[in-house]
Amino acid sequence: MKTAELRSKFLQFFESKNHQIVSSSSLVPPQDDKTLLFTNAGMNQFKDVFLGFDKRPYNRATTAQKCVRAGGKHNDLENVGYTARHHTFFEMLGNFSFGDYFKRDALLFAWEFLTSPQWLNLPKEKLLATVYAEDDEAYDIWLNEIGLPPEKIIRIGDNKGSRYASDNFWQMGDTGPCGPCSEIFYDHGEDIWGGPPGSAEEDGDRFIEIWNCVFMQYNRDENGTMNKLPRPSVDTGMGLERVSAVLQHVHSNYEIDLFVNLLQAVARVVGVPYTQQMPSLKVIADHIRSCTFLIVDGVLPSNEGRGYVLRRIIRRAVRHGYKLGCKQAFFHLLVADLAKEMGEAYPQLIEKQAQISEILQQEESRFAQTLETGMALLENALQKDAECLSGEVIFKLYDTYGFPYDLTADIARERNISLDEEGFEREMAAQRARARAAQNFKANTQLSYEGKDTEFHGYTVRQSESTVLALYKDGEAVQQLSAGESGAVVIDFTPFYAESGGQVGDVGYIFINSKDYFK
Ligand code: ALA
Repeated sequence: MKTAELRSKFLQFFESKNHQIVSSSSLVPPQDDKTLLFTNAGMNQFKDVFLGFDKRPYNRATTAQKCVRAGGKHNDLENVGYTARHHTFFEMLGNFSFGDYFKRDALLFAWEFLTSPQWLNLPKEKLLATVYAEDDEAYDIWLNEIGLPPEKIIRIGDNKGSRYASDNFWQMGDTGPCGPCSEIFYDHGEDIWGGPPGSAEEDGDRFIEIWNCVFMQYNRDENGTMNKLPRPSVDTGMGLERVSAVLQHVHSNYEIDLFVNLLQAVARVVGVPYTQQMPSLKVIADHIRSCTFLIVDGVLPSNEGRGYVLRRIIRRAVRHGYKLGCKQAFFHLLVADLAKEMGEAYPQLIEKQAQISEILQQEESRFAQTLETGMALLENALQKDAECLSGEVIFKLYDTYGFPYDLTADIARERNISLDEEGFEREMAAQRARARAAQNFKANTQLSYEGKDTEFHGYTVRQSESTVLALYKDGEAVQQLSAGESGAVVIDFTPFYAESGGQVGDVGYIFINSKDYFK
């Protein structure tokens, strides 16, 4: 079954169980949600419904949700390219109950969809389940209603160092809705390395988690207190790519139809033969998806926040292309291939194709200017510091050559060399101190302006006619500012709010003779 068909079958199944099909929300969470960097699960758009703050005209929903897990609480960036199943971008198929059905129906629905001949028809003996150690109710449903043998129901307790910190207790972020969960695993067979969940070899690729059913019961607040939700609810997430792999009888997500096509496109633009054996091809194929979808949702490469995560992903992809011997810009060319692959499900990929490609190309060429010199510096240092790369080198790469820390880490890892993270942090702290000192200096060198005060009219007008009272360049009064120069302009009337009281200043244009302007 093709990936696209699985996506629609899932939605169709839950529609037949009276669920409302709801579109994927943006990868950028709503502005008032500060707890999330990116949308990382299907339930994000329903957070307030779980908490009882929002009401919908339905109490059952189903979605195919775009997710990014990079740089936030759920961060898979480092694993991408090295395992069969990790991605920065993936699609999560989910069904949700808002105070309607609970554990029993959630597990019965999942089992029916996976094993019924009418739906996915997966062999039952290949499936196993985990439950939260204290959740006898879920255990009993698996054992007595679904009929899974006891050796295939694994209880997992608080295995991550504190109360409720467990693979079987899911939470969206440090605060928010959460609850115990039951995960369904698929056994890819003995010839793949790995052990069942809870075993020492669980990180291998043999037993793959395909579906997580969360029984939402609590809202965790800032103090770590678990407050009961108004109505117990259900949130599930099934990895589209992982289940496609199962259905297409392959062991790795990178072998499914969608990824094979993308990997072939990567091989073409980079100029190497297609193979499944090169992690760099997989990294690039994964990263073109997250970068493209992030840009579609309005994120732009920058030096902070979401934009910096995007920049890190783009640069990581470009470096992997460089590693494969590709010295020209290639990454942006893949947008067209991705649009061909996923444009039917996400038409914005087609509509915004040219724009996305241009943004990626600009970022590629910006990094290309420093990549080669940075790599030469790094090669040199890696040869000298055979076991550990010094904090100074990591910082120089970061500060002068635009190598994000995790990019350097990625390269060092390929050669089994560790990083002096503490040394890097020390350098960063020293740089912050220098920046603060420079800031104070700037504040002490105020402009020596003694003329008339500027009148602010920004609450009533958005543009006004004004007279220039004084001009400054580098803090010194000047008679004129020429094209290309920047400086300070003092005017008598202004609609621009000045930076103060924790608010950023307004930005706009000053037109002279209605033609020439300053920004
Ligand atoms: N929200 C759950 C998860 O992401 C389903 O695993």
